[in-house]
Amino acid sequence: MKLSTFFILLTTAWVVQAQFIGNASINTPEAAASVGTGPYPASFLSSPTLLNHTIYQPKHIPHGMKLPVLVWSNGGCISSGVIMYPFLVQLASQGIIVIVNGAPGNVTATYDSFGPGPRTTYHMLIEAMDWATANAGKGNWTHMDTRRIGVAGQSCGGIEAYSAGADPRATVIGIFNSGGNLTGKATILPSSIMKPIFYFLGGPTDIAYKYGEADYKNLPTNTPAWKGNLPIGHAGTYNEVNGGKIGVAASYWVDWVLRGNSSAKSWFTSNTSSTAAGWDVTSKNLQKIHLSPI
Ligand SMILES: *[C@@H]1O[C@H](CO)[C@@H](O)[C@H](O)[C@H]1NC(C)=O
Ligand SMILES: *[C@@H]1O[C@H](CO)[C@@H](O)[C@H](O)[C@H]1NC(C)=O
Ligand SMILES: *[C@@H]1O[C@H](CO)[C@@H](O)[C@H](O)[C@H]1NC(C)=O
Ligand SMILES: *[C@@H]1O[C@H](CO)[C@@H](O)[C@H](O)[C@H]1NC(C)=O
Ligand SMILES: *[C@@H]1O[C@H](CO)[C@@H](O)[C@H](O)[C@H]1NC(C)=O
Ligand SMILES: *[C@@H]1O[C@H](CO)[C@@H](O)[C@H](O)[C@H]1NC(C)=O
Ligand SMILES: *[C@@H]1O[C@H](CO)[C@@H](O)[C@H](O)[C@H]1NC(C)=O
Repeated sequence: MKLSTFFILLTTAWVVQAQFIGNASINTPEAAASVGTGPYPASFLSSPTLLNHTIYQPKHIPHGMKLPVLVWSNGGCISSGVIMYPFLVQLASQGIIVIVNGAPGNVTATYDSFGPGPRTTYHMLIEAMDWATANAGKGNWTHMDTRRIGVAGQSCGGIEAYSAGADPRATVIGIFNSGGNLTGKATILPSSIMKPIFYFLGGPTDIAYKYGEADYKNLPTNTPAWKGNLPIGHAGTYNEVNGGKIGVAASYWVDWVLRGNSSAKSWFTSNTSSTAAGWDVTSKNLQKIHLSPI
């Protein structure tokens, strides 16, 4: 097998670089077998009324349980419901619905096969919110609760999250290995963001590091914000079994900011657990976030 440096450098909308094996599966069979470590083992499906997206949720939803929503855009703005499967199934297993830009596909498809595929735009995150708010509480979606909607994405997807995060239905924003000037295309200035925002960066070797750092610095003084750096670079751990270390951190995140679990909150408000897990963290105004459990 030939190890090659695989650059996906398609249009100015996206740049990422990593050591990849082009014809290897993006998710190993072990990672593709992930169902999440949360209380609700999860999987994905598609809806006939939202065909260009993929919906992750627990396989068995207890009667009467309500699930808040996360809308997600992939690294590279790649239109695929499964390229980040291990991470997304991990988040859904916490008891949330994750709607990702891109239709379902082969979870173990090769790196090369995703490269030339179609790209998303932030409008697809808006479409996901439109669909969620139109269907919440109805038909197959009686358990869906859109009082809390997180908007997040990795790398190029993080730029989409900035744009879609301005939608009033979005209650919280997650920026993973990204920052406004990564693509030079961000239309939202950090200095205008008032809602809670969380940065999950990859340390100094992450090509997005300096942009994410700058954005955090440029947030308004009063905005509730958290920033963590796990020093492993841009590609993160998303394709590891259950999304690896970033999957763990992001699980605390959705558990707190979407589900309203106050025990999960302390992972962010105290640096003890995050530091022990290898994250270098800082935060401000998190005490302003008050959430009751959903
Ligand atoms: C992957 O590509 C290398 C050459 O680049 C080839 O030798 C190998 O057989 C390929 N593996 C598969 C599974 O296609
Ligand atoms: C999924 O992709 C892998 C290549 O990594 C291939 O071996 C497998 O046959 C594909 N599965 C389907 C159902 O197409
Ligand atoms: C699905 O998304 C892709 C990528 O953005 C786009 O090219 C395609 O037109 C979309 N299809 C539909 C039916 O919206
Ligand atoms: C509701 O779910 C059932 C069972 O999964 C499926 O067959 C049906 O197509 C769904 N209906 C809609 C409108 O999505
Ligand atoms: C990008 O950088 C330029 C100058 O380097 C700055 O003026 C602009 O505000 C930055 N944009 C974002 C979204 O941070
Ligand atoms: C709340 O979060 C804690 C810490 O992550 C976890 O142990 C617990 O199971 C969560 N509670 C619920 C109801 O999900
Ligand atoms: C953790 O937070 C405390 C109090 O804010 C601070 O004094 C300490 O330096 C932090 N530790 C690390 C490792 O960041």
